[in-house]
Amino acid sequence: DQGQRARLVEAHRAAAEFYTDRLGSPEAEIGRRFLAERGFEAADAERFGVGYAPREWEALVRHLRGCGFTDRELVAGGLAKEGRRGPIDRFRGRLIWPIRDLSGDVIGFGARKLYDADDGPKYLNTPESPIYKKSTVLYGVDLAKKEIARRRQAVVVEGYTDVMACHLAGVPTAIATCGTSFGDEHIKILRRLLMDQDEFRGEVIFTFDGDSAGQKAALRAFEGEQKFVTQTFVTVQPDGLDPCDLRITQGDAAIRDLVASRVPLFEFAVRDAVERHDLDTAEGRLAALDAAAPVVAAIKDRALRQMYAVNLDRWLGIMDEEFVLRRVREH
Ligand code: GTP
Ligand code: MN
Ligand code: MN
Ligand code: MN
Ligand code: MN
Repeated sequence: DQGQRARLVEAHRAAAEFYTDRLGSPEAEIGRRFLAERGFEAADAERFGVGYAPREWEALVRHLRGCGFTDRELVAGGLAKEGRRGPIDRFRGRLIWPIRDLSGDVIGFGARKLYDADDGPKYLNTPESPIYKKSTVLYGVDLAKKEIARRRQAVVVEGYTDVMACHLAGVPTAIATCGTSFGDEHIKILRRLLMDQDEFRGEVIFTFDGDSAGQKAALRAFEGEQKFVTQTFVTVQPDGLDPCDLRITQGDAAIRDLVASRVPLFEFAVRDAVERHDLDTAEGRLAALDAAAPVVAAIKDRALRQMYAVNLDRWLGIMDEEFVLRRVREH
């Protein structure tokens, strides 16, 4: 209910403050070094509310009890979990990013491991709770929403450090899912931000690792509605460098260039199918055509489909648009 929700949000606000305070402690030197190595200054960490979770069992639990929160509340919100002798901190010895909802309330945390000897995955998230639904969470959306609406663009990156890097580099429309793949609920949120007089108008740009995890996320957009697909763009990170890496090695402009080099999802998908084949042989070109034809055939808008058939003919060097179109129609 509303009462519990408000209490959990309060607890998260207090926890976020606790973590950011701790980033200044002697123990957190390892966390400050991590941030510095990623190209972030103290002021950047402050702007994004980055914090540090002490490497203890119940530092946060003790602190929040002192603030008047009950053990039951801490467990319900995912800040603590049941240990053998009562609740223990969920996040220990980790760098902490507060995750906020659209209105700016902290509803959960993302936490990166800092000590190799520790157990657990590299990144750990708040579990599902009355206020944290991972399918609807977008890290950075509170900071980005205004610019997303104004620039009619949302840039989907992979991680917390990538969102920070983008915003600092002049791409203030960057957001990230938190340890889950980009799904329908996320689309709905972006759609709402990109609504313009009842029209969905804007670009959703996915940044991809050279590897496949991110690619699958965007290609899944094909399963959604076409209006969204035609406004989905893709940009592939050179050498698999994520925006954070890119900013460290090549500077702010490299991130802006990455975003500027986006291509429509359809183009990306068709080219992707084409590039898997050897276009120097007739057999290879035909195989590429058969791989790409279903993608083109899936385009519902007739004129757009026609355009892509023409493009496909060009990309394959077949020089026979009718032949390509027939092949597309067969799918
Ligand atoms: P750094 O070493 O921190 O720079 O990480 P990276 O750039 O190698 O991170 P990677 O690209 O692997 O992950 C990017 C994002 O994916 C993170 O910000 C997390 O949100 C998510 N992620 C990565 N690994 C895990 C994991 O083990 N568990 C969960 N829940 N999320 C993860
Ligand atoms: Mn990755
Ligand atoms: Mn990464
Ligand atoms: Mn990695
Ligand atoms: Mn990284």
